[in-house]
Amino acid sequence: MQKKIFVTREIPQIGIDILLQYYEVDIFPKKRPITKEEMISGAMDCDGLLPLLTDKVDAEVMDETGIKAIANYAVGVDNIDVAAASQRNIAVTNTPGVLTDATADLTWALLLSVSRRIVEADKYLREGNFLGWDSMLYLGGDFAGRTIGIIGLGRIGQAVARRAAGFDMNIIYHSTSPHPNLERSLGMKRVSLEELLKESDYVSIHTPYNKETHHLIGKKELEIMKPSAYLINTSRGKIVNEEELVVALVTGKIDGAGLDVYYHEPKVHKGLIDLPNVVLLPHLGSASMYTRSKMAMMAAENLHMALSGERPENIVNPEIYDK
Ligand code: DGY
Repeated sequence: MQKKIFVTREIPQIGIDILLQYYEVDIFPKKRPITKEEMISGAMDCDGLLPLLTDKVDAEVMDETGIKAIANYAVGVDNIDVAAASQRNIAVTNTPGVLTDATADLTWALLLSVSRRIVEADKYLREGNFLGWDSMLYLGGDFAGRTIGIIGLGRIGQAVARRAAGFDMNIIYHSTSPHPNLERSLGMKRVSLEELLKESDYVSIHTPYNKETHHLIGKKELEIMKPSAYLINTSRGKIVNEEELVVALVTGKIDGAGLDVYYHEPKVHKGLIDLPNVVLLPHLGSASMYTRSKMAMMAAENLHMALSGERPENIVNPEIYDK
């Protein structure tokens, strides 16, 4: 009997075509995140599951459906209970590398938009307010010679650092491990989180979300930042205490923020929506056509390898193969 795959939402066809060579594929047809009940019923008796980062795959989903492999359509796997998967010998894979540049580019789009007030100015012009060049119109921040502090120096953090070097910025980073080669080639320095927050004109978050990074940026951290500084988050919403971020933005503890991710995603804090000094995007980090297609191919290949008994290249829980 042909093995079955359940895909929790439409993804680029190129990934589906790979799966269709070997499997019966069922795709959740609605244009909204799937509910847990819908996921359980869709994946019932399936061999493989291909979920999005919006879909919480917990022990109940695993036990009810009997899935044998999970290929997340994302690099972050905080939506999956990986420990529960490992206990059940279920392979979990992700899509690292292919979305590095797209996410670093979007980080820069946010840095530039919030600092140079692009969204506010665009709105002003469209509303017919542009009456001629004005020396005081929408004055923003600078990049050359300013300091960017990068929290988390994985692939995406490094790509952001390379772009920052092109903008002639001083680069500091906070990371669990040192990166001496990058320090030499980009002239960057590893510092404590406190020093990073104190020194940076721009703070950009690129660490994965987990127990240790939950609320990594809260009241105390926001108070350490310069009042002229900007906070950018293209990682995961729960790394920042959103309530405290709103307070910091309203009271001028920091100057602005650029966000692609939210605490209660897809809900966005009303306080953020109301603020002009914040640029808000609907989680578009990897949203380039090429990147999303590569992610679809990678997830499909990961799933096929796992279901064929091979160790997938992008295995998140390698311990299941080392038992
Ligand atoms: C990921 O893959 O984790 C990204 O957040 C997608 O944009």
